[in-house]
Order: sequence, then structure tokens, then C-alpha cells
Amino acid sequence: MKKNDKKGIAWLLEIAGSHRILVLMACLLSAISAILSFAPYICIWYVVRDVFAAWPDLSAAAGVTWYGWLAVGFAVLSIVLYFVALMCSHLAAFRIEKNMRKEAMHKIVTLPLGFFDQHTSGRMRKIIDDNASVTHTFMAHLLPDLAGAVVMPFAILALLFVFDWRLGLVSLIPVALSIYYLKQMMGGDRAGTVQKYMDALEEMNTEAVEYVRGIPVVKVFQQTVYSFKNFHQAILDYKNWTLDYAFNCRAPMTKYTIALNGTFVLLIPAGLLLIAHAPDYQGFLLNLIFYILFTPVCAVMMNKIMRLAQGYFVAMEAVTRVTELLDDEPLPEPAHPQQPKDHSVAFKNVSFAYQGSEDYAVRDLSFKIPEGKTYALVGPSGGGKTTIASLIPRFWDVQEGSVEVGGVDVRQMASDHLMDQVAFVFQNAHLFKASILENIRFARPDASREEVLRAAELAQCTEILDKFPQGLETVVGTDGIYLSGGEQQRVALARAILKDAPIVVLDEATAFADPENEYQIQRAFEKLTANKTVLMIAHRLSSVRNVDCILVIQDGMVKEQGTHDALLAQEWLYAEMWQEYQRSVEWKVGKEENYV
Ligand SMILES: Nc1ncnc2c1ncn2[C@@H]1O[C@H](COP(=O)(O)OP(=O)(O)OP(=O)(O)O)[C@@H](O)[C@H]1O
Ligand SMILES: [Mg+2]
Repeated sequence: MKKNDKKGIAWLLEIAGSHRILVLMACLLSAISAILSFAPYICIWYVVRDVFAAWPDLSAAAGVTWYGWLAVGFAVLSIVLYFVALMCSHLAAFRIEKNMRKEAMHKIVTLPLGFFDQHTSGRMRKIIDDNASVTHTFMAHLLPDLAGAVVMPFAILALLFVFDWRLGLVSLIPVALSIYYLKQMMGGDRAGTVQKYMDALEEMNTEAVEYVRGIPVVKVFQQTVYSFKNFHQAILDYKNWTLDYAFNCRAPMTKYTIALNGTFVLLIPAGLLLIAHAPDYQGFLLNLIFYILFTPVCAVMMNKIMRLAQGYFVAMEAVTRVTELLDDEPLPEPAHPQQPKDHSVAFKNVSFAYQGSEDYAVRDLSFKIPEGKTYALVGPSGGGKTTIASLIPRFWDVQEGSVEVGGVDVRQMASDHLMDQVAFVFQNAHLFKASILENIRFARPDASREEVLRAAELAQCTEILDKFPQGLETVVGTDGIYLSGGEQQRVALARAILKDAPIVVLDEATAFADPENEYQIQRAFEKLTANKTVLMIAHRLSSVRNVDCILVIQDGMVKEQGTHDALLAQEWLYAEMWQEYQRSVEWKVGKEENYV
């Protein structure tokens, strides 16, 4: 994906695509509508003038009706144009919002997994979802108004000076003062406020999602929101920030409002003073009436501009956050992708540390799985087994050494080609809220129903499908249809079987100790791994007895390696683990006998 060099409105126009013209139309129409909205005031001035001229014989004021209708005509035209402008801007805004979400979603899949460690899902949702909505409001409503607001001051200035420049000047003083106070409110140490506001909001959002996720734990341990210190702190921070801001703005906001609404305090005395020296008494009174009628419009305009400015800053900050996300570095792709020669997997002096972590999770690790062989990783929890496995499909890139598939560094392979080569079954299988068919087909969207069914059978899912009347079409995660952990693992295996990739990486689930499930999963494993190059992470040693080689992983290093028998003969780590395992099995069997 190309890097964005456009920012703000320019970028929004770019992603509007062909709807860009609608944005421009909306701005143009809104500007014309804004200018037209002043025309009725001029018409009314003419009405008042004619009435004055004809007074007391009103029948002589022939133009009054005509000007009256003209005023109505201009007002209606202005409203209609504004309405059309909003229609155009809404059409464009929906398109922009859609494209923004789409771009962000496309981008997310290209990012290395490490990115998601730093950006929790709450933060991501805020960045994409909320900012797209803010942008929608901006494009649909604020931008056309902004176009109007840009031409309005010119029109107002022209009108203010056309009738009587002295009264125009007097009317301008409060406006100038209010602009000064507005600047005071927005400038100085309040610069970057929007940024801080968004930061506080984002933080609160992130912590809220974290909190909701943790509710089961909160309930079980009978804790309250206060025990979620970060969430509580985020709410307090937000509250303090908003209160601080509101108190800070109190004085300038009061001055601003007083200045803006104090026009008459200046206008009326100035009018009285000037009228005494006016050669044309009637004409001057007429102008004064115009200014009395018109100056409140200035106040409305200023308030509108203030609201628009606020909206503008919020929207631009929102856009910046999305473009920053889009600018994040994707996993680098090789300039000249290479083809692997076979389906072997090799680690060569690999060292890897998670971002922000001082300790290496994998240290100077070397081993090679020849094509078609099955290797197993065993070892204590936190030893680095899952980390090692995730380096093969490039969930992260190594810092030192290289991971090779078929003799080619995985960083030198095109990422889609690499993904075609590897099927990965995670420790915690994730099923989407969709039918079982779709969940399995996710591995290969072009697979036929029969192929999916066959994969499901091989993965021992038949019994699951029989449980539900809709079979493969059963939607999981809704209407009380939930699969147990072991069942989910089998559906995930069906997915991997359907993918039929030459290299299989299995992170065995620990939780499903019930013997029936274990047996079923074991059989599904066998179907999946036949004739494949396999790296399996085993938590139950029973599953590794027959593999070609067992690697004992501790502290990110291979401590011992060999076949089951060879390792037992060494009487070291693996032998100890095996004895432990045997004891636990005996303990379990013993306990079950006690129940009888
Ligand atoms: N996303 C992550 N970010 C930072 N550190 C991590 C991350 N995942 C794992 N670690 C750390 O890396 C080390 C190895 O973890 P890993 O998950 O690879 O262990 P494991 O051998 O798979 O453990 P288990 O048998 O419990 O699944 C641990 O110390 C862990 O704290
Ligand atoms: Mg693990």
C-alpha cells in the first residue's frame, strides 16, 4: 500500500473517489445559499424605505409587496440550495466513511502482529469506528457550513459598510472584540487541546473495553470498578481534564458572549449621537433600523464559526489518527520473492525478543525439520514454544538469525505464498460468529460444500454436526449455540485440514483433558498431519511418543533433543517430565477408581 502524503481535507477528498465532485458541489451550493440568506434583509430594508417614503399614505408604497415576495423568494431559494448541498455532502460523507473503514481494515491485516500488542482492540475500535463517524459528521454537515462561513464574513462586511460606514464600524467593534476573546480561548496553553481531549477519550475507551472483558473475573472475585485502577484512573483523568478546560474557558467565554451580544450598547448611543448631526434624518433612521435588524446576524454568524472551528479541529485530529494508522509500517515484503525448494523448516541461530521486552523469548535457537517429519516442542509454560511456532508464519520477524522454509528465509518469500505453505492451529482456536461451514471454509473460500464436509468428518466433527438440526449451517455464537473448547479445537482442525498446506504448526490446547475429547482430537491431528512437515507443541506427553524428534524448550533454548526413547535414556529433563506425566496419569486413574 502506498504511503499517504496527503493530510486532512485533501486526504478525505482523495478517498471520496468519484464522489469528490459532490463535496465540491455541496460547498459551492452552501456558499451561494449563505450569500442568498442575506438578501431578505436587503429586501426588508427596501420595504421599510418605501413605507417611510410613502408615509402616511401606504397605498403609494407600490414596491412593498414586490419586495416582500422577493424576500420570501430569496429565503426559500437559500433554504432549497442548502438542502441540496446537504444531500450532496451526505452522499459523499457516506462514501468517505465507508472507504475510510475499508482502508483501515485492509491496512490492519498487513500489519505485523506485534502492532496489536501496543494497540488494544478498544483503541483500534476507537481509532477506526469513532473517527470514521466524526469524519462523517464533519463531511456531511460541517464542511458545507464551513464553506458558507468562509463567504459570510465578506458578505457581512460588504453589507455593513454599504449603508453607513460609521454605523458599520460601530457594529464591527463587538465582533472584533469577540474574535479576540475567542482567540484567547483557543490559543496559548490551550493549543493542542483537541489532541489531549482525544487522547483522554481514547484512553478511557481502551480501559472500558479491558474492563468489560474482565467482568467475569471482577464478578467472581467480587470486586468493583475501583479495583480496575486503570479504568478508574482513565475516567478520573477525563473528568479532571474536562473540568479544568471548562473552568479555564469560563472567563474568556463570558467575555466573548458579552461582547458579541453587546452590540446595541454601542449601536444605539452611536445612532442617537449621529442622528443629531445627520443632514438626511429619515435616511439615517432607515439605515439605523437596518443595522439594528442586521447586527444580531453577526452574533449568530460568530457562534456558528466558533462551533465550526471546534468541529473542524476535532475532525482533523480524527483524520490524523486514521492516517497515522494507515502510515504504520506493514510487514516488509521482499522486492524479489523467492520460491522454497522443499517443505522443510529450519531455524538458524534465531534470537527474538518481544517489542518493549528486555529479555529474549527465543535465544540462539537452531534446528531443522526435514520435509515430511514431525517434530514436537515440549517444556515448561512460558518457555517460548508458542513464540517459536509463530515465527514460522511471520507473526513477528526475528531480530537475529533466520527462519527458513525450503531453504529460503521467510522474509524473502511473498507473504501470501508463505501463508499458503503453512497451516496454523492456535492454542485458543477462534471461531467467527458465522456458520460452521463458513468457519471451516475460511481456510479456502473456493472449497465446495462436499470438501468442507469431508474436512469436518476427518476432524471428527460429525458428532458435533449431528447435534444441531442445521448441521453445517449452524451459526455458532448465537441463539445459545456455543461449542465447548474441545469442539472448537476440532472445528479449527477441520479448517486446517481443508487448507491442506504442506507445513502444519499445531499449538495443542491444554484445557481439554476429558479422555473422549482428547482421543477425538488426537485422531483429528493424525488426519491433519499425515505426510506433512509438522511442528507440534505438545502439553500432553502422550501425544509425542511417536514423533521423529522431541525438542525440550526452556528459557527460549533447546535444552535437549532426540526421540522419546533416546531422551528417556538420557535421564535428564525429558525423563523427569515423563515421570511427572506418568505420575499425573496414575493419579488421575487412581482418583477415578476411588469414585467407583
Ligand atoms: N505477545 C507477547 N508480548 C510480550 N511477551 C510475550 C508475548 N507472548 C509471550 N510473551 C513472553 O514470551 C515468553 C514465552 O512465551 P510463550 O507463549 O512462547 O510460552 P509457551 O512456551 O508457549 O508457554 P505455554 O506452554 O504456557 O503456552 C514468556 O515469558 C511470555 O511472557
Ligand atoms: Mg504457548
